[in-house]
Amino acid sequence: LARGAQSPDLARRHVVVSAGGTREPLDPVRFLGNRSSGRQGFALARTAVARGARVTLIEANTGMTDPAGADVVHVGTALELRDAALKAAADADAVVMAAAVADFRPAAYAQGKIKKRDGVEPEPLALVRNPDILAALAAERPAPGQVVVGFAAETDDVLANGRAKLRRKGCDLLVVNEVGAHKTFGAAENEAVVLAADGGETPVPYGPKEALADTVWDLVVERLVTP
Ligand code: CTP
Ligand code: CA
Repeated sequence: LARGAQSPDLARRHVVVSAGGTREPLDPVRFLGNRSSGRQGFALARTAVARGARVTLIEANTGMTDPAGADVVHVGTALELRDAALKAAADADAVVMAAAVADFRPAAYAQGKIKKRDGVEPEPLALVRNPDILAALAAERPAPGQVVVGFAAETDDVLANGRAKLRRKGCDLLVVNEVGAHKTFGAAENEAVVLAADGGETPVPYGPKEALADTVWDLVVERLVTP
């Protein structure tokens, strides 16, 4: 039994979770997107509700039904997700960025559908950087005790890349999973290691995304300052 599964150890806490993947529009019918299913973020929201938290779930393009008991904010793009996350984080005890945020967006949005023309090759697609939402949340905490958690999917040198990313983002916890062709994306199960800024390393065996979610909340609860 996960330690927190039945205990309301997040009662009177407000937690913010982002889930899904942002879509960056090119024109009214096309976007740049990613394969994040949103299942890990939804598992985090459900388990936090079960542990007594007030939950704000910021949902991006999952197509899933809103989880019972959570306040859900629907967003499409990274810029919308940033605005929603910074707003919800203002009075939050913890923020968990499980969403896959597009690193780049098209530099221009075409108001009308982009058409091909006979004999004309397409222009290269110009992209610009999106803001780093997790780094901004970690740097601009409304209260010093707020716990900020990130996720990272890595294909190589998983732990070394994870440690470097944790430092770069300035968050308290980083959940790192190894991804490959048939790992993690869209699956119900997940295997990960949770790296902590204080040096801690918590391996989470292959299992349901709820189990990983409960481990994340256990580590968050340990770091919450009372009351
Ligand atoms: N993230 C974010 N804003 C971005 C990009 C990522 O908040 N513009 C968050 C993700 O939600 C996740 C964490 O940062 O919690 C790590 O995402 P990842 O894509 O692994 O990090 P990047 O810094 O974008 O590194 P990479 O170049 O490896 O993609
Ligand atoms: Ca990225």
